[in-house]
Amino acid sequence: MTNQAFILLCMVVFGVVGSCHGGSLKKGFYNNTCPNAEAIIKNATEKRVASDPTLPARFLRMHFHDFCTFLGCDASVLLNSTTNNTAEKDAIPNLTLAGFDVIDDIKAEVEKKCPNVVSCADVLALAARDAVSFKVSQTPLWEVLTGRRDSRVSRISEALANLPSPFSNFTILPLSLTSPPFSKTLLTKALMCKTWWSYQSDAALLTNKSSRDVVDKLLASKEFFKEFAKSMEKMGAIGVLTGNAGEIRKKCYVVN
Ligand SMILES: *[C@@H]1O[C@H](CO)[C@@H](O)[C@H](O)[C@H]1NC(C)=O
Ligand SMILES: *[C@@H]1O[C@H](CO)[C@@H](O)[C@H](O)[C@H]1NC(C)=O
Ligand SMILES: *[C@@H]1O[C@H](CO)[C@@H](O)[C@H](O)[C@H]1NC(C)=O
Ligand SMILES: *[C@@H]1O[C@H](CO)[C@@H](O)[C@H](O)[C@H]1NC(C)=O
Ligand SMILES: *[C@@H]1O[C@H](CO)[C@@H](O)[C@H](O)[C@H]1NC(C)=O
Ligand SMILES: *[C@@H]1O[C@H](CO)[C@@H](O)[C@H](O)[C@H]1NC(C)=O
Ligand SMILES: *[C@@H]1O[C@H](CO)[C@@H](O)[C@H](O)[C@H]1NC(C)=O
Repeated sequence: MTNQAFILLCMVVFGVVGSCHGGSLKKGFYNNTCPNAEAIIKNATEKRVASDPTLPARFLRMHFHDFCTFLGCDASVLLNSTTNNTAEKDAIPNLTLAGFDVIDDIKAEVEKKCPNVVSCADVLALAARDAVSFKVSQTPLWEVLTGRRDSRVSRISEALANLPSPFSNFTILPLSLTSPPFSKTLLTKALMCKTWWSYQSDAALLTNKSSRDVVDKLLASKEFFKEFAKSMEKMGAIGVLTGNAGEIRKKCYVVN
């Protein structure tokens, strides 16, 4: 149920807001510089998912939280804290985010073949897609354009300022969602309502028959996956660094 609630959240929130960035990402950005990049990531991801079925939800959350800091899909969520700086990673409840070490390992496998070429942000975006697809359908559920670059910063204050807590009550939640890039005008009453469900604890979602029915119905229909794919493609393009911005991190947990 955790997965389902989370997927619902992504669809509802990003289907609406994620429409305006990411024009410079490309299909097959690494065709020439690291032709096997996507296959290496897919293989490594599937191997891990086969032995840990919780990874798809974890990667999806990570990808989502990476965006949610509003620094964009730039792998800032993967950075460890340093003596001077508390990272986003440590701002997020440990139960919602785990699997960082697996992303670090997958990146290491890519580095072996193509050093300093493939960004952690792309590794995370591809691994999230491949993990969820492997679990659900065995074929890619959405397209991941590539060419993201990695941020050099991860700051706890930004994560805390922008991220609605999973424990937010209805009074707090709409306020968080009105900070950029969410805006009041986008936000219909229905959106808030669905978002609110998503943030409820798993137990609450399970015990309430009507919310459980909504989630189950969405997951059962083909329409859901079509909409979900669109939302994921939009989400993965929000606030990305491209061109010469940022860097290609060598290790995902530390800036170069
Ligand atoms: C990479 O190859 C794919 C498949 O041939 C193609 O669709 C895509 O446009 C290529 N991308 C680049 C950036 O060359
Ligand atoms: C990925 O796994 C498949 C099947 O095991 C294998 O044939 C292929 O060579 C692997 N690709 C890479 C790039 O590791
Ligand atoms: C921490 O800050 C000090 C003083 O500003 C600086 O010399 C040092 O390089 C910083 N360390 C890290 C890991 O950023
Ligand atoms: C999460 O943190 C709490 C409190 O610090 C701890 O009790 C719990 O074991 C941690 N859970 C995991 C999965 O690390
Ligand atoms: C960085 O964080 C990861 C998990 O998030 C941990 O496994 C790793 O030991 C940390 N690395 C360093 C150098 O602190
Ligand atoms: C919602 O949470 C805020 C901040 O914790 C609190 O001030 C407020 O009273 C809560 N509202 C309800 C209806 O529980
Ligand atoms: C389930 O949630 C809906 C929507 O929040 C609410 O109207 C309904 O009363 C709840 N049902 C139960 C049994 O709590």
